[in-house]
Amino acid sequence: MTAFDVRNYDSVGSTNDEAVRLAQEGAPHGTVVHADKQTVGRGRLSRRWSSPPGNLYLSIILRLNLPAPRNVEIGFIAALAVADAIETMLPRQERATLKWPNDVLVRNGKISGILVEQVDDALILGIGINVLMAPDGVSYNVSTIVGSGGLATVDGTRAALLAALANWLDVWHRDGFAAIRIAWLARAHPPGTPLRVTMGDRTIEGRFADIRDDGALIIDTDEGRRICTAGDVGFA
Ligand code: BTN
Repeated sequence: MTAFDVRNYDSVGSTNDEAVRLAQEGAPHGTVVHADKQTVGRGRLSRRWSSPPGNLYLSIILRLNLPAPRNVEIGFIAALAVADAIETMLPRQERATLKWPNDVLVRNGKISGILVEQVDDALILGIGINVLMAPDGVSYNVSTIVGSGGLATVDGTRAALLAALANWLDVWHRDGFAAIRIAWLARAHPPGTPLRVTMGDRTIEGRFADIRDDGALIIDTDEGRRICTAGDVGFA
């Protein structure tokens, strides 16, 4: 079971950047950088991640000796952990669902962001969860735990997240990515769901088919089956 060592900061540029710095200094597996706010929080695809006080921002140093093509597996593990953690704080009727590659949705709004980066032989798993504050200026639906009727504090969310993450890392160590893939599919949009995938200036529309063994998205379009390894997915 992974043991986490949490280092708290009032404010950093990005917890991922601080975790990179600590990893380069040799910080061990399980080191967690948690900040009350970020001044230059980063999202996927070089986007900004709005980071006012009131939400959870943390980055975890993972030393897993994974070959680089398998780094994507960590994003799926993290999404399952975020979904579990959030559901412990939501009213019983609310569900956290998943959308490729690692979006966690509540009431159809994105409630969390996950950013996995590599530095030397370590992975930095950055996770943001909207506890109280809905980010503004974004082009997609967002939600928060408290706005969805949940009872949560930032520190309580962090504790729930780290417990859930330790559990899913155990499942992965024991049963491999096959078990993660099955658990992820059980919480994601069902096969046939219309999706729009944007990769740079290219957009593909189709129906969700499956997730490949390496985490790639499989969609069926009118022109045939397509495989996506990167990009943004929206419901069409
Ligand atoms: C996304 O675009 O969906 C990923 C957003 C990831 C945000 C988190 S907040 C903690 C960590 N530090 C960062 O600068 N980014 C990640």
